[in-house]
This record gives sequence, C-alpha cells and structure tokens, in this order.
Amino acid sequence: MIPSLLAFHVFTIFQLSTALRLPKISGNATPVQAAASAAVSVSLGGVTYVNQGLVGFGRIPSNFTESTGDTLGGIGSAITIKPGTWQELSNGSFTGTLVVQPDRGFNVISTIDYQARRHELDFVLTPYYNSTNLSFAAAQKTFALTYKNTVLEVERNNTKTSGLDPGAIRAAAPGFGTNPLADPQMPIASTAEPHLSVDAEGVVANADGSYWTSDEYGPYIYLFTADGKLVQTIQPPAAILPLDKKGNLNFTANVDPATGRGANQGFEGLTLDPTANTLYAILQSATIQDGALQYTRLLAYNVSAPTVSVPLIGEWVVPLPVSSSGKVEATSEIHFVSAGVFLCLARDGNGHGGSGDNIKYKHADLFSIANATDIHGTSFDSPATPVAPKGKLSNSVTPATYVSFVDYADATQLARFGLHNGDPDDNTCLDAKWESLTLAPVGDTAPNDFFLFTASDNDFLSTQGVSLGQPFNAGEDVDNQFLVFRVTLPGASPSVNKAIGL
Ligand SMILES: *[C@@H]1O[C@H](CO)[C@@H](O)[C@H](O)[C@H]1NC(C)=O
Ligand SMILES: *[C@@H]1O[C@H](CO)[C@@H](O)[C@H](O)[C@H]1NC(C)=O
Ligand SMILES: *[C@@H]1O[C@H](CO)[C@@H](O)[C@H](O)[C@H]1NC(C)=O
Ligand SMILES: *[C@@H]1O[C@H](CO)[C@@H](O)[C@H](O)[C@H]1NC(C)=O
Ligand SMILES: *[C@@H]1O[C@H](CO)[C@@H](O)[C@H](O)[C@H]1NC(C)=O
Ligand SMILES: *[C@@H]1O[C@H](CO)[C@@H](O)[C@H](O)[C@H]1NC(C)=O
Ligand SMILES: *[C@@H]1O[C@H](CO)[C@@H](O)[C@H](O)[C@H]1NC(C)=O
Ligand SMILES: *[C@@H]1O[C@H](CO)[C@@H](O)[C@H](O)[C@H]1NC(C)=O
Repeated sequence: MIPSLLAFHVFTIFQLSTALRLPKISGNATPVQAAASAAVSVSLGGVTYVNQGLVGFGRIPSNFTESTGDTLGGIGSAITIKPGTWQELSNGSFTGTLVVQPDRGFNVISTIDYQARRHELDFVLTPYYNSTNLSFAAAQKTFALTYKNTVLEVERNNTKTSGLDPGAIRAAAPGFGTNPLADPQMPIASTAEPHLSVDAEGVVANADGSYWTSDEYGPYIYLFTADGKLVQTIQPPAAILPLDKKGNLNFTANVDPATGRGANQGFEGLTLDPTANTLYAILQSATIQDGALQYTRLLAYNVSAPTVSVPLIGEWVVPLPVSSSGKVEATSEIHFVSAGVFLCLARDGNGHGGSGDNIKYKHADLFSIANATDIHGTSFDSPATPVAPKGKLSNSVTPATYVSFVDYADATQLARFGLHNGDPDDNTCLDAKWESLTLAPVGDTAPNDFFLFTASDNDFLSTQGVSLGQPFNAGEDVDNQFLVFRVTLPGASPSVNKAIGL
C-alpha cells in the first residue's frame, strides 16, 4: 500500500469514530426537520416533487492519490452506486460503494496520455437533518468516503486508451462493436499513437459488472466489461457527429466542427432505465447547427442485447435554462426518475475551481419528455436540417417540459454543512464543476424519498498533484466535494431499486 492511501484510510477511520458523536437520528422514520423548513416543491406533469434539503457532505482532499500513483482527480465527472452494495444500517446510517469516473486527466496545459479508468469508493452516509450549523470538519462526517480500487480501461488488443485530443481517425473494423456489425470510425490520439481517445463523462453500472461510459470526443458511448475491456461502441446520428465543412469526421476538441456537437460539449450525461433496458445520453448543449444554444438533445438506445445491437429508439429536444444575461446553463448530467422524467444537472462555471464569482445557477432540475416530439429517424438526424436554426426551435417540434428543482447554492443549506457560495474562495466554498447524479432509496417508511448524491469534478487541481507518475503544482487546491440531498420523487422506485440491485 502506498503511503498516501494509508494516510487517507487513517483519516477516514478517524472520521467514522468521531461520527459516532453526531446527534443521534433514528433511521428513516426520522421526521425531516431542518430540511422540511427549506423544502421546495415543484410540479411537473401533475406530479409533485419535493427537495427536502441537504443531508450530507463529503470531501476527498485534492492531493489524494489512487493505486496507480496519480492523484484521484476529477472523479465527480460521473458517479453511480455499485449494484448490490446499498444498505441501511440499524443505527440510522447507510453504506454502499460508489463507482466514480474521472474524465481525461490533468489537462489545464494540454491534453495528456491519461488512460481512462474508474474507481470504487466505499461510503458511510449518516444523514444530518438538524438546523444547527455544523462546522466544516464535523460536516464531512455525514458522508465519509474510503478509496477502494481502480480499474484501467483498454480497447482492441488490450491497448490502453488515451486522454489525448484525437488528432486522427481509425477506420471501422469488425469485432469491436456491433452497432451495426462493425465499430464505427474511432477517435484516436494520432496516426503514430493509434490509441482510442476517451474523455469520459457519464457512467452506468450494470448488474453483471459491465458498465457504459459516455464520452465527449466522439461523442460516443462505450460498453466495458467489469475488468475494463471495450466490447461495444455506439455512434450517434450524423447530426451529432463532429463534421467539417466537407462532411468529414474530425474529432478534435480544440475547435468547433462545422456541424454536430460543439468542442467539449459531448455526451455529458448518461443514465439507464433498467426496467425498460433503455439507455439515455444527453449532449452538454445544442449542436452547432442548432445554434450551440439551449436546445440540446436527449437520445435513447435499446440496450436489451448490448453486445449484439443497440438501436436508437428515441430523440427529443430539451430546452436548457438560460440566465437573465442570455447565457445557457449547460447540462453536466442526467438521471432517470420514471417513464419520461429525468433529473438534469444544469449549471454555470462559477464557484471554487472555476471562476471565483458567486454561483448563480447550480441545479438538479427536472424535465419530462411526456409531451415532447420524438425526432429520431427524421431529417433532424441529418446535419443539413437543424432542429433549431440559429437557436430558434422548429415549429414542428415540442421540446421537453423543464422545471427548476434543487438549488445547490442555497445559502441556508450550505451553512448547515460549514459551506458557502462566493468569497472567500477557499475549500469551504462550493466547487464550480458539479457533474454527476445518482439516487438511492431512503427506505420503506418513505417509499417516495431518495438520497440524491452529486459530486464535483476538481479538474485535478492540486498544488501536490501527480499526473502520469509526474508531480505537478496546479497553483490551487480544489477538493472533490460530495453533496447528498433528500428528495421526494414519486414513481422513481422501480428503476432506482433495480439499478442498485434491490
Ligand atoms: C495532503 O495535503 C495535506 C495538507 O497539506 C497533508 O497533510 C497530507 O499529508 C497530504 N496528503 C498526501 C497524500 O500527500
Ligand atoms: C453506524 O454504524 C456504522 C458502522 O459501524 C458507523 O460507521 C456509523 O458511523 C454509525 N452511525 C451512527 C449514526 O452511529
Ligand atoms: C402533457 O400534456 C397533458 C395534456 O395537456 C398535461 O396534462 C400534462 O401535464 C403534460 N405533461 C407535461 C410533463 O408537460
Ligand atoms: C439540533 O442539535 C442541537 C445540538 O445537538 C440540539 O440541542 C437541538 O435540539 C437540535 N435541534 C433540533 C430541531 O433537533
Ligand atoms: C490488433 O492486432 C492485430 C494483430 O496483430 C493487428 O493486425 C491490428 O492492427 C491490431 N489493432 C489495433 C487497433 O491495434
Ligand atoms: C481537424 O481539424 C483541425 C482543426 O481545424 C485540423 O488542424 C486538423 O488537421 C483536422 N484533422 C483532420 C484529420 O482533418
Ligand atoms: C428492445 O430490443 C428487444 C430485442 O433485443 C426487443 O424485444 C424490444 O421490444 C425492444 N424494445 C424497444 C422499446 O424497442
Ligand atoms: C448558520 O450560518 C448562517 C451563515 O453563516 C447564519 O446566517 C445563520 O444565522 C447560522 N444559523 C445558526 C442557527 O447559527
């Protein structure tokens, strides 16, 4: 065991022992007191959803290193609960294992040859409902995390993947993706370094241990086995692919393409409805031909036969929130709630590790596609027919219904956990880049209540960073922060329970 792992482990044991001194709460029968005073209800499609407030906060220091020797970094790009691990203890705490996935490594200066990977973190959640403000140190005991392991990802011929900007394209080939029959042309680091380039952003853990990963470069969706081997590749319709003026693929994220996903605006969100075997991916913001503005797209794939064929079965327009100054709050994650209803993490770039300004919009919102137009298989799947030319939505298309829901930057809720929004820009300031959502049930006494877990991507910013084995100083320390809200989501039980193996 390398020294830093040991250090973090000891730190966590310390957290757990002191957690015993927290005010005793009696499990899921506890009335939600402080949280209730801040409860926010919204209505969508005739159903009332309630934000009961913040109940947990966790933190991993920015210099914490994982088993390869690299700093753990931007693991908040994607999180999910490992199926079969969620458990309620008799003392009011809950335990489980989070599967977390960083994106493409420390890339503030340039992209690097970072092998895609996922990690497992064990956690103990001791929900805190009291209105008394905890200190920052005490607050971290409500959601205590322990690093467990790392799986590195490989593609064809057990070749490691790369985080390097795709400077070239590899031709389609049979046997490494069956959608349809041969995998599509692949983003690769360069002709000289023909490694699949992955900028991972979304993760879904399947019951058999395999997992789906969505990516920004393609933007593609990949299926990996439990031990990290690529077995399926999903290529989206031409309207989403990054094409140059001549209609040729060019995967670079250094510049915007002529049509398709914008640079670094790929499939940020990925979620599964395990009751229907439907996988959903969302683009961070609208395609270039759609004005690169608020009208982004949600795609649905049938993953009933994941290694055989993964057909596109639905596509809808989702109108992202727009600030009073006209800025689109792009989406960083989605999570399936119930048929047609999704949570959507939409946010600005303000906060610790981003621009130091006050956060104006950092939300887990809700949208419904119940009345939205399914545009899959129509001319809108061609880059020649924008669904929202210059940002104005076509009259023939009804977008999703979008409502505001959980506000991360609520000052009263943050203060209960020793956190704040805006100055001072230190580690008690809420992070900028929240990019993940996952759900677990509170229990039988409140069957519509769920814990909503969310984590920040710290962009590997650490004064004591390690990248590809080399130490670096990013000039600031941004910890990985985790927030846990309690929310009432009628109708969510079947898919949430199945997703986590209950
Ligand atoms: C991380 O930084 C803190 C504060 O400087 C230090 O106490 C701790 O030992 C460091 N941990 C590692 C793993 O380097
Ligand atoms: C419940 O027990 C677990 C395991 O011993 C411990 O980690 C946790 O802190 C306990 N929770 C409370 C509220 O005492
Ligand atoms: C869909 O339309 C029906 C009929 O107008 C309405 O009752 C329902 O609330 C709408 N649902 C959403 C999510 O907008
Ligand atoms: C909150 O915790 C304090 C200190 O433990 C306790 O005195 C107080 O009664 C609690 N308040 C509520 C509303 O439970
Ligand atoms: C995989 O190995 C085969 C046989 O050596 C080789 O022909 C092929 O080019 C390799 N593919 C990749 C992507 O490296
Ligand atoms: C892709 O676009 C970049 C930026 O315009 C350009 O430098 C590069 O040559 C293009 N690559 C290919 C394979 O066309
Ligand atoms: C998904 O595909 C399976 C076959 O693999 C089929 O039986 C099922 O009807 C499909 N579901 C949808 C919603 O298209
Ligand atoms: C909690 O902290 C906030 C922000 O500092 C403060 O406004 C509030 O009065 C505090 N609440 C209590 C009960 O001390």
